[in-house]
Amino acid sequence: MSELTDQKAASLAVIAAAETLEALDAERVAALGKKGWVSLALKTLGGMSPEERAEAAPAIQAVRADIAEAIASKKDALEAAALEAQLASETVDLTLPGPDLPLGSVHPVSQVMDELAEIFADLGFAVATGPEIEDDWHNFTALNMDESHPARAMHDTFYFPDTVPDSAASSTAEVGHKNRQMLLRTHTSPVQIRSMKEQGAPIRIIAPGRVYRSDSDATHTPMFHQVEGLVIDRDIHLGHLKWTLETFFKAFFEREDITLRLRPSYFPFTEPSVEFDVGYANEGDRRVVGGHGDEPGHDWMELGGSGMVNSRVLEFAGLDPSEWQGFAFGLGIDRIAMLKYGMNDLRAFFDGDPRWLSHYGFSPFDQPTLSAGVGARA
Ligand code: FA5
Repeated sequence: MSELTDQKAASLAVIAAAETLEALDAERVAALGKKGWVSLALKTLGGMSPEERAEAAPAIQAVRADIAEAIASKKDALEAAALEAQLASETVDLTLPGPDLPLGSVHPVSQVMDELAEIFADLGFAVATGPEIEDDWHNFTALNMDESHPARAMHDTFYFPDTVPDSAASSTAEVGHKNRQMLLRTHTSPVQIRSMKEQGAPIRIIAPGRVYRSDSDATHTPMFHQVEGLVIDRDIHLGHLKWTLETFFKAFFEREDITLRLRPSYFPFTEPSVEFDVGYANEGDRRVVGGHGDEPGHDWMELGGSGMVNSRVLEFAGLDPSEWQGFAFGLGIDRIAMLKYGMNDLRAFFDGDPRWLSHYGFSPFDQPTLSAGVGARA
């Protein structure tokens, strides 16, 4: 037994003196490993008489427990010391720049919508929205496009098989099978109806959003974006419309030499109706907005439709046409984005190609503001 006591003392001394986890582990193997001296001592129990064994076994087990405990606490101490040393040697420099993570970009259409909202907000317009899945009544009937209107044809409009129940109609005018047919709105004009019905008059709103038509080539896509404008008050006239559009285009294209041409046209929901064009110059294969379309090297480009809101539309929307009048306009957002930022294929807008987006996209930090220039890049 005294041999065991000596071995234990020697082993505890080695454990106490161990400076590394490796040295400690070597001592663990030497004492408690398969061929370690504690294990060998345990094996001797087999050759003892029961009386000897009853005396020796608890003593050996106690030695084993003491050694195991000494190793465990030394291990904790060594690990704590290693952590201390690491913390003392490593410092974090909080002034270092962070890793260069790729940043998403804002789609040009979203950027242009923000620019529009910024400019029109300055002119006192609020932003209104409406559903993209519309019913026939708001998209056509209330806009004075009766059942025989060609825009209702299957090849122009995406219809759903479902209809809205008559019980969801807000007035008797909306009731009836055809009026309740669901479709993807073909323009933002139904937001005129919804806004007038909800807010009454006077009203001054823009309604940007997605619209859908069965159309596809380099300048037409089945889904595109329009912005609707609507001003209703007691004595609004076409002069206000022209000034508003001209002021908007000057701010949007950031040029003073914008010339607007109003051309007589026809929309069932406006009377009189005009299409508006801006003058542009051909510079190489780019069209640059500005100047008078009749000057040499210049031409006119149609940007949208507009007019004085038809009195039938005012009636459908619950307003008295003898009291209220106003103008409405609608223009293609994708088209003015292409013009402003020099893109030539409308379809690329919706391909979702990250290379195109990183080229034409905007930094999320480029917020359009009137003071910095709505199209300013930070
Ligand atoms: C309309 O959609 C009328 N609701 C506009 C309006 C509103 C007139 C209020 C009067 C009063 P139009 O179908 O012409 O009109 O479309 C307006 C603009 O949307 C066009 O000038 C064009 O810029 C754009 N646009 C039309 N179809 C497409 C298409 N498939 N892809 C991209 N842009 C289109």
